[in-house]
Amino acid sequence: MIRVLFVCLGNICRSPMAEFIMKDAVEKEGIADRFSISSAGTSDEEEGNPVYPPAREELAKHGISCAGKRARQFCLSDYDKYDFILCMESRHVKSLQRLCGDPQCKISRLLDHSQHPHDIADPWYTRNFALAYAEIEEGVRAFLSEVQKRENHGK
Ligand code: 4NP
Repeated sequence: MIRVLFVCLGNICRSPMAEFIMKDAVEKEGIADRFSISSAGTSDEEEGNPVYPPAREELAKHGISCAGKRARQFCLSDYDKYDFILCMESRHVKSLQRLCGDPQCKISRLLDHSQHPHDIADPWYTRNFALAYAEIEEGVRAFLSEVQKRENHGK
């Protein structure tokens, strides 16, 4: 089982988008049973809140539901529960590194796995949910193909 946790600030826009985009991708590829996928925020600001409506609508445009998702804050025990902790911005990486130390090098930025490593701008401020979706989807696809290559090499 490959355990993946996506992390942003509030866990109401980018990381839940990533969670449900990746769940959709592995389901379509017929490999969902090999993954455990979730998301959390570095902040407790939005704890318990549903996905922010414009993010939910962007997912819905692509036929993806995020029903039932509620925001939760990242906690120290998450470090052991996941194999890959994929953050939206370098400041989330830094804040989790401060908390966990990252002895097993599990923490990275989602787009560090792509051809164009960069932060995913916060659509809460940019209001560009379509761009956030496109960048997250690119990162999820790149990460998934990296994981699949690694698995094939291990065989
Ligand atoms: P997220 O977006 O980190 O992608 O979930 C944000 C959501 C809420 C806030 C900031 C960013 N906020 O300041 O409440």
